[in-house]
Amino acid sequence: MTTTRPSHGENPLRDPEDRRLPRVAGPCGMVLFGVTGDLSRRKVMPAVYDLANRGLLPPGFSLVGFARRDWANQDFAQIVHDSVKQYARTEFREEVWKQLAEGFRFVPGDFTDDIAFEHLGRTIDELDLVRGTGGNHAFYLAIPPAFFGDVVGQLQEHGLAQPSEESWRRVVVEKPFGHDLESARELNAVLAKVFPPGEIFRIDHYLGKETVQNILAMRFANTMFEPIWNSNYVDHVQITMAEDIGIGGRAGYYDGIGAARDVIQNHLLQLMSLIAMEEPAAFDAESLRIEKQKVLRSVVLPRRLDLTTARGQYAPGWAGGQKANGFLDEEGIKNSSTTETYAAIKLHVDSRRWAGVPFYLRTGKRLARRVTEVAVMFKRAPWLPFSAVSTEDLTQNALVIRIQPDEGMTLRFGSKVPGTAMEIRDVNMDFAYGGSFTEASPEAYERLILDVLLGDPPLFPRHEEVELSWKILDPVLEHWARKGKPDQYPSGTWGPESADKMLARDGRAWRRA
Ligand code: BG6
Repeated sequence: MTTTRPSHGENPLRDPEDRRLPRVAGPCGMVLFGVTGDLSRRKVMPAVYDLANRGLLPPGFSLVGFARRDWANQDFAQIVHDSVKQYARTEFREEVWKQLAEGFRFVPGDFTDDIAFEHLGRTIDELDLVRGTGGNHAFYLAIPPAFFGDVVGQLQEHGLAQPSEESWRRVVVEKPFGHDLESARELNAVLAKVFPPGEIFRIDHYLGKETVQNILAMRFANTMFEPIWNSNYVDHVQITMAEDIGIGGRAGYYDGIGAARDVIQNHLLQLMSLIAMEEPAAFDAESLRIEKQKVLRSVVLPRRLDLTTARGQYAPGWAGGQKANGFLDEEGIKNSSTTETYAAIKLHVDSRRWAGVPFYLRTGKRLARRVTEVAVMFKRAPWLPFSAVSTEDLTQNALVIRIQPDEGMTLRFGSKVPGTAMEIRDVNMDFAYGGSFTEASPEAYERLILDVLLGDPPLFPRHEEVELSWKILDPVLEHWARKGKPDQYPSGTWGPESADKMLARDGRAWRRA
């Protein structure tokens, strides 16, 4: 975020520090590759509509779909329409839709088809002329990374990646950013050949979530948390991302990837960085990156990975009151698959602040319920002037940041139970977004797409962070690949027994989130 005020002659309505006015994207358009995929239909297209509906897109905003389909513009518009009707967060308004849909174009072709990319070039020129998109275009690659090379190569060859002096060209990519350190480097090299680092926007949609951004506000805008945010007070930290869904129709993507690569490498390590980092000098991309990188660089794995990691695969069981298949029975999954659908790891951050404080990260599909939270668990008071019986029901103080679905924060501490005896037990103090704010939180993709169009990079991980995250995870993945296979856990439970044992070895237990 920039802190400069507009200079003389600039439009004061665009003062980036004036919060009375929403941040609105300037003239621009977006080209979407992979329009038929799940991500485009469920997230990207609805977010574009929601942004338009909130008045945050320029009036001439244009969306070009590119796919190997024999479609005309109207067919593409119909696909977007259906996706918006089904998944958009805000209400459907005919006048907003009509204006947005006037900027829809479709270019048929595959990624190696020169003629199709020439057609794309002409389409963009035409949009600049009739919609006033000003030569500013973001290329959103909602496609498997194996095709990134083809697409950015074509963009370069057809002159689409190079902006004129007054305009910009950006590329937006989705994870997985490789499947290990080496492949991540190769992937980055492919992108870096065509786009400068500042024009590559890597989406980690967790960073687009309001509750995740609030971690920094909570820590650094207040006085009461920071003094206890260290190993003097914190016993350990648990980061949980539990899902009740299975892999659905994503066998093609998920098999061979698994839980650790799918979400620990990115979402959970990013969450951990925000929890563990030092105060950034400013809330800008560079300062944030420096502090997050420092954390990732300081992470060390325990020596005995067999005792400090756990992995599982969901077996038949229950999901939402219905019988559910096991992972190996899912369509498209081989019977012999060793892909994990549950992963738990223990990490240390080697720094003065966090010495001796373990961070436990866990994630899984088909668990008992959907919940993502960060629980900072505090040490027990070193001495209690009460009898052991009085404090039987007192556990550890905890600050739980509820990322989703019940967004908010809970502070757990001990309190006297009313009555004649001194009996102390845990109570909760609660902050819920719904109770404090009237405005509903935007979807992560709304925020991130808007930031791409504004060229605002703080919420996008840099390549260095991606590399450091693989450096942390690679030894775990190699260890798993060498040894055995995931433990089975019944669908609808909290994961494999081995994960409970992993914490029990440290005298701890997972929170029943
Ligand atoms: C994605 C993963 O990044 O996050 C999916 O690839 C997962 O496997 C999804 O289901 C969960 O996102 P959210 O926002 O529902 O927590």
